[in-house]
Amino acid sequence: MYKKALVTGGAGFIGSHLSRALLQEGLEVIVLDDLSMGKPENVPENAEFLRGDIRSQEDMERALRGVDVVFHEAARVSIRSSLKHFYEDAETNLMGTLNLLRCCAGRSIKKLLFASSMAVYADCDGPTPISEAYKLEPISPYGISKLASEKYCRQFSSDTGISCQILRYFNTYGVGQTFTPYVGVITIFVHRLLDGKPPVIFGDGEQRRDFVHVHDIVAANLQAMKSEMPLGTYNVGTGRGTSVREIAELLCEKIGGSQRPEYAEAQPGELRYSIADTHRIRADLHFHAKETLECRIDEVIEHYRKHPVS
Ligand SMILES: NC(=O)c1ccc[n+]([C@@H]2O[C@H](COP(=O)([O-])OP(=O)(O)OC[C@H]3O[C@@H](n4cnc5c(N)ncnc54)[C@H](O)[C@@H]3O)[C@@H](O)[C@H]2O)c1
Repeated sequence: MYKKALVTGGAGFIGSHLSRALLQEGLEVIVLDDLSMGKPENVPENAEFLRGDIRSQEDMERALRGVDVVFHEAARVSIRSSLKHFYEDAETNLMGTLNLLRCCAGRSIKKLLFASSMAVYADCDGPTPISEAYKLEPISPYGISKLASEKYCRQFSSDTGISCQILRYFNTYGVGQTFTPYVGVITIFVHRLLDGKPPVIFGDGEQRRDFVHVHDIVAANLQAMKSEMPLGTYNVGTGRGTSVREIAELLCEKIGGSQRPEYAEAQPGELRYSIADTHRIRADLHFHAKETLECRIDEVIEHYRKHPVS
């Protein structure tokens, strides 16, 4: 169906898992990544790696040669840091996306898949799943730049006829998540506990997240690639909410010995309730998340036990 894929951000967490899956599907894969967060060893052996910046027209044009499908994963992935660094966030997450779009025009690209986020939504009053029709009022610069990028992708798709699938990932976890003190609460808690420190919960811990495993994110991308629909926007989550306190307690029990969670002031920009309504993606793309936290969390712990981050 498609022959050659570009995965921007393919040296990062989701992009590297996705690149591996695309190679297994028989596609050629080009990875464009500036290694600001990603690591060269994450790029699968059979993928072609170009070190470059999604904001550079020259780098992007080089990466797009012969490509017919694009998975746009590269971004600055931090809600918290986007509050202070909103300019840098927009430069990469919005302007980098616009650079990709202008470089795609007039080429052999048939489809674009854009990694959006649950951060595009307004906060919720309660822990009920939200559909794609829920209010789009982001409370962080990161959410604003993702939402603006979505809108440009849609406009671009209707102007050029290039098919576009927008996937709003919820909280993604799994082996290989890029470690920073700000992104991926499971990865952060696992690292702290393995380091003999307690997990720190911001706020009361009752905020609920939809934790979706990276294999499911990859599976949703493959289904969206294969879909005949010219344009779509989908939540990618499990439909199930778990509180940050529950995660902290579970991890303390599994790793912590005597460690107990500590509490700190709630952080601005973070949604209190963020749970995906998955009806649309089930109906249109025949996708449902298969992995569960219960089955996958031990694997994450074991991985970081064997490969501690210095
Ligand atoms: N991890 C999550 O929970 C989550 C949730 C919702 C959406 N997303 C989105 O999924 C995508 C992938 O996220 P991830 O968790 O794999 O993050 P990640 O940080 O592991 O990967 C992002 C990659 O983009 C690269 N990158 C950053 N700026 C770049 C630039 N200017 N030019 C080229 N490469 C650049 C980084 O080096 C990194 O390898 C992002 O678009 C993110 O916004 C992630």
